[in-house]
Amino acid sequence: MNKPYIHPKIGPRAAAFLAKEHKLLIGGKWVPARSGKTFETFDPGTGRVIAKIAEGDAADVDLAVAAARRAFESGPWRTITPSERGKMIWRLADLLEQNAEEIAVLETLNNGKPLATSRDRDVPGCADLFRYMAGWATKITGETISISTPGQFHAFTVREPVGVVGQIIPWNGPLAMATWKLAPALATGCTVVLKPAEQTPLTALRLGELIQEAGIPDGVVNIVTGFGATAGAAIAAHPDIDKVGFTGSSEVGRIIVHAAAGNLKKVSLELGGKSPVIVFPDADMSVAVPGATQAIFANSGQVCTAGSRLFAHKKVFDKMIDGIAQQAGKIRIGHGLSDEAQMGPVISQTQMDRVMGYVDQGRAAGATVAAGGKRIGGEGYFIAPTILTDTNPEMSVVREEIFGPVLCAMSFDDDDLERIAKQANDSIYGLAGSIWTQNISIGHKMAQRIRAGRVGINTHGNVDAALPTGGYKQSGWGREKGHEGLHLYTEVKSVIVSL
Ligand code: NAI
Ligand code: MG
Repeated sequence: MNKPYIHPKIGPRAAAFLAKEHKLLIGGKWVPARSGKTFETFDPGTGRVIAKIAEGDAADVDLAVAAARRAFESGPWRTITPSERGKMIWRLADLLEQNAEEIAVLETLNNGKPLATSRDRDVPGCADLFRYMAGWATKITGETISISTPGQFHAFTVREPVGVVGQIIPWNGPLAMATWKLAPALATGCTVVLKPAEQTPLTALRLGELIQEAGIPDGVVNIVTGFGATAGAAIAAHPDIDKVGFTGSSEVGRIIVHAAAGNLKKVSLELGGKSPVIVFPDADMSVAVPGATQAIFANSGQVCTAGSRLFAHKKVFDKMIDGIAQQAGKIRIGHGLSDEAQMGPVISQTQMDRVMGYVDQGRAAGATVAAGGKRIGGEGYFIAPTILTDTNPEMSVVREEIFGPVLCAMSFDDDDLERIAKQANDSIYGLAGSIWTQNISIGHKMAQRIRAGRVGINTHGNVDAALPTGGYKQSGWGREKGHEGLHLYTEVKSVIVSL
């Protein structure tokens, strides 16, 4: 490998972290992969190599699972009080904030998103979620149950940690995805083997250092960087992992379900989406246009809840398309570390080819490219915000998750909410959706009819630590975040005492 490329604007602290040898975190020690192998990680804004990362595989996963098992069964984690657990998680949130600039730079460099997003939204959002879950550590309770069995009994339930948890996460929000997974697992007293996406290992590794600094005991969080087919598959199939949590493609979600069948480990999945944005003729255009623009182009469209199917009433369809195209044209596209950038590249050459492949398929099937539809520049993986009109439900661009800045627009000319909902629900996915109207009644009636885990009325894809998120249909199993999210990491035990 040539010397890794150092972007001129990364600053001394991120540069110092990048220059380190990037190892695996197993049982509180940073160790190379057993095989000695490493892989390269890239800056998608330039396409250049920025660091070498230890390439963990099944042998390393075995060691990490053993460390997590020890920490769960006999480590101090088990005897620590919930209050102490909560304090450590809170301390981790403080450390994230104290290192916000450095972590944001690493996130931007490895994922491509604008620095303002990493620094002002992602890092604070992650600190917030850690604190939210830190608060729950002392509030995990069961119920007392009145039973009708003849005799005298006292019966109650307790919620116990599910055990050793494997967590496999994607690259679209590397730090956020690590936080969504780790925060509830830590709050409930589980121990973890985390595998970051091979495209974006850096912030998870930096988070690993902060986890140690926060005083979270050795072996509670183990981090194995590596590829899906090796390290990821080993986690999904491991006989001593009690539960696997996954976020990524539905295709891999299915593989994980099969792999988990061996020891029938618990599975939670947050998968793809093809979320509808439904605009009624009475919608406030000054809200709906920027809302729909953000819904599809934020994070270069690489968001599981992206509003990728626009359904606008015939009366406002042209206004919506013109408005979105105009706003899209003004989005400043550039390297995430440049001061101007509002939208960065997509994650990789592979993803760029995939997205452009979809645009070509759409064109070939008769769609009109109303905006964008092309790559920008020759360096890095930049795609212009793209709008496809004249699309229909048979096209692959409308049916499949593109995971890039591509909006498929369709119109309706109907007052029947059932028929509109049927069109919006015509998808294997059910992750999110939004409804734009000034009529409260229509908003709520449509919200009832949308088969998805998160529905916005005059807003799309909001995230909040307290708000459960997850999918209907093939968008996943279970709900993350909020009180609901704790249930993924606990088992319920009924205790019956004969009096
Ligand atoms: P992917 O699903 O292959 O990767 C996500 C994670 O799963 C990564 O950590 C990867 O290493 C791991 N993985 C891959 N194969 C595995 C296996 N056999 N066993 C265990 N773990 C495995 O996603 P990919 O290929 O990076 O992206 C392809 C498409 O997936 C995207 O275009 C998008 O449509 C979808 N996707 C959806 C995400 C979401 O948030 N819903 C996130 C990332 C991708
Ligand atoms: Mg894949």
